[in-house]
This record gives sequence, C-alpha cells and structure tokens, in this order.
Amino acid sequence: MANMLTTHLNFFWAGLLKQSQTGALVPSQRFLVAKMIAPVPETCEGLIIELGAGTGALTLRLAAKCPKARIVACEINPTLARECRNSLTRAGYDGRVEVVSAAAEQLLAEYVGRKTGKPEFVISGIPLGHMDGVRARHLLDIIRQSLAEGGMYIQFQHSLLDRKNIRTRFVQTHTVPALLNFPPAVVYYAQN
Ligand SMILES: C[S@@+](CC[C@H](N)C(=O)[O-])C[C@H]1O[C@@H](n2cnc3c(N)ncnc32)[C@H](O)[C@@H]1O
Repeated sequence: MANMLTTHLNFFWAGLLKQSQTGALVPSQRFLVAKMIAPVPETCEGLIIELGAGTGALTLRLAAKCPKARIVACEINPTLARECRNSLTRAGYDGRVEVVSAAAEQLLAEYVGRKTGKPEFVISGIPLGHMDGVRARHLLDIIRQSLAEGGMYIQFQHSLLDRKNIRTRFVQTHTVPALLNFPPAVVYYAQN
C-alpha cells in the first residue's frame, strides 16, 4: 500500500514539475489501459515496445496478458522508470519486461534500418500534443519506420491535436474515445 502511494506521488510530482513531458497528473486507469492493449493477442510471441511507460500502469497489464511476448518499455524520466521496474518486481514480473530509461527516439532508432526483429506493436502514452511540433512529427516518423510489416502503432492522447499527423503517416487509422478515464482520452490504432 505504502509502495503504491509512493508510486502515485512520484507520478504526480512528475506531472507537476515536468508538465509537458508527463502530460498527466495520474497514471492511466483500467478502462483506457484495456482499450490500449485490446488489439494485442494473448498469444503474441513477438516484440512489443511501450513508449512512455510512466510508473507501469499499462506495462503490468500487458505483461499479464502476453506471457510469451518480449516486452521492452522505455521511459525518459529516470524516477518513473525506476518506479516502473519496482512495480513489475512487486507484481512478480521481474525479468519479463526490460525497462529502458531513455528517450523513445533513442530506443526506436535501433530498429529503423532492420529487416527482422522489429516490433509487432508500438504502444505509446507519450504526450505528443505537448511536444514541440517538429519533435512530435519526427517521433511519428520513426515509429512508422521501426514497426514490423503488418505491425500496429497504438497511441493515447488527451486531445485530438495530433490526429492529422497520425492519419497522414499511416495507411489505416482508427480512433476510439476512452471517456472513462481521468482525464478523458482518445486511442489511435494505426497500421501501414
Ligand atoms: C501520460 S504519461 C503515460 C504514463 C503511462 N504509460 C500511463 O499510461 O500511465 C506519459 C509518459 O511519457 C514519458 N515520456 C515523455 N516523453 C518521452 C520520450 N520522448 N521518451 C520516453 N518517454 C517519454 C513521460 O515521462 C511520462 O511518463
């Protein structure tokens, strides 16, 4: 219980002190997380990359749902990356998920030029709408380039600001609301 409180407080402080980087004051809740991971099959054995893992609200549910997948979660804020690792350890998923304390751009760059070993899913909570426009568009470009053929990019946002940027980069996109979340969100599913 005390651990969970510390985790939530660390997220809250990050939300206050690094507002544009964190994009929220509380981690995503069940309903939004369920929509984010819905397209990922339980039988997935490939690579799943999570961008902006925060304290692990989505990471934990993904690890529980996909025991055979290789999951790499990245988080730019080292305090939140540590909380994410601790949450995974407490839940018994130690060693099942690699948590990288780095920027998404840095992690994805490793996959861009590859022919094999690319992620089947890139799942992101990064607040694109709070980022500088050039950086947000660059991130979307490397997400598209790093995805495996037939792979899916899943992103939640608290506004529709980046809808056009996502739609112009992917052949198929689908947007669904996730209103039972604080703050309410939209989820984008995008494929090439
Ligand atoms: C809205 S929070 C989502 C956290 C978590 N996925 C959840 O759903 O509760 C966005 C997270 O993205 C992280 N972030 C922002 N920019 C990033 C970047 N360029 N690379 C990696 N993480 C980033 C923030 O530090 C923050 O933890």
